[in-house]
Amino acid sequence: MASSIIVGTQWGDEGKGKVIDIMAAKADIVVRSSGGNNAGHTVVHGDEVYKLHLLPSGILYPETECLIGSGVVIDPKVLIEEIDEMNKRGVACDNLRIDARADIIMPWHRELDKLEEAFKAKQTGTNVGTTGRGIGPCYTDKAERVGIRMYDLVHPECLKKLVKNTGELKNLVIEKVYGGKAFDLDEVYEEYKAYGERLAKYVADVSVITFDAYKAGKQILFEGAQATLLDIDFGTYPYVTSSHPIAGGACVGTGIGPKMIDEVIGVGKSYTTRVGNGPFPTELNDELGELIRNRGGEFGTTTGRPRRTGWFDAVIMRHAVRVNGLTAIAINKFDTLSGIGTLKVCTAYEKSDGTILKDFPVILEELADCKPVYEEIEGYDGDLSQCRTFDELPEKCRAYIARLEELCGCPITILGVGPGRDQVIFR
Ligand code: GDP
Ligand code: IMO
Ligand code: MG
Repeated sequence: MASSIIVGTQWGDEGKGKVIDIMAAKADIVVRSSGGNNAGHTVVHGDEVYKLHLLPSGILYPETECLIGSGVVIDPKVLIEEIDEMNKRGVACDNLRIDARADIIMPWHRELDKLEEAFKAKQTGTNVGTTGRGIGPCYTDKAERVGIRMYDLVHPECLKKLVKNTGELKNLVIEKVYGGKAFDLDEVYEEYKAYGERLAKYVADVSVITFDAYKAGKQILFEGAQATLLDIDFGTYPYVTSSHPIAGGACVGTGIGPKMIDEVIGVGKSYTTRVGNGPFPTELNDELGELIRNRGGEFGTTTGRPRRTGWFDAVIMRHAVRVNGLTAIAINKFDTLSGIGTLKVCTAYEKSDGTILKDFPVILEELADCKPVYEEIEGYDGDLSQCRTFDELPEKCRAYIARLEELCGCPITILGVGPGRDQVIFR
């Protein structure tokens, strides 16, 4: 028996979906605990590619219970579309359960996400570069205690009252502050009532299910979405998402205690990517960055936006080791770097006054004053995609991995050499 949390260590899209799918083969339960359909997790089974946004990445195993915890924000339209799509592809999704406490993304959240981003861009010349899915405004309502939750969605009398109360306020903001178009609240109610009817059979108490499974000695996998540097406290605020993707968020967003966790696995890439705006110390704004983007297929799973690319940053990984309490690291995409020549790794940051920082700065002003200190490492060549043991990897690749491990201060136990569920090496 073991309970494992899987978290992103960089700015997302590290290949968490792949690692979770592989580990889910042995899990009894897979739980999502934060974020919403801003996430895009890719699972590849042979020729079949599944891009999951809300459904937990264990959904392909009918025997594995797939839970969506209270910390997740749910766009019911997107969830129903995802279930329908999976049904068409032969995946029943009868193993899905959703916590009654989870907050619902309403149409005004998506609208306000866009209006707020446009306002910020006009006012300051920049914005967060959100996915536009209504994530921030939905979490705002949750914190303000005016949200509509899964329980309300499936109880028409609650839904009607809340759509009226919250909707009237949102319409005022949309019309009077932003000059936008108000929503017809009767239409919204009818639309969401129908979603509630469709989703009612999945509603449950995820905290109870998870605790009972734990007591029965079952294997539980907590599926992280987003990543450490997108965490609302420990990421590059304000260029972050509105939830806690770090390991602690798995407890809060599921309703279980920290003593139930046995291991925390951080997922990263052999380089770094970021989608959206905000600082990125090791970013490569050149042909090499473009080469890595194209070779790694670095285009957003959710929005299709090109991902920014750069060298592996050990300062970031040490930050992730600390704030998540990582017990092991999985690094994907060693295949992508093969044949690109000499590699660089950021080992520390240097401030303009010459001070060397080993830890990720607390505030962006300090980060802006930092430049990466690089160490050059000999590159490796060859086709890694067929390697299945550590010893089969090119010697220089093994040396790169050994150096990353040393710099991060945590064992790297899972190595990705391709997108497939078999293209992985366990050490
Ligand atoms: P997630 O959000 O962390 O689940 O990651 P995404 O699915 O958004 O992006 C990761 C991408 O990398 C997907 O297209 C995966 O299929 C792919 N991928 C995962 N691991 C590897 C790997 O080791 N090598 C290669 N070439 N691709 C990988
Ligand atoms: P997965 O789970 C990469 C980024 C957005 C933006 C910021 C805030 O696939 O790794 P939001 O819509 O959440 O308010 O956007 O966070 N972002 C992600 N980037 N992977 C993700 O998820 C992301 N989820 C949000 O691009 O910069
Ligand atoms: Mg993704």
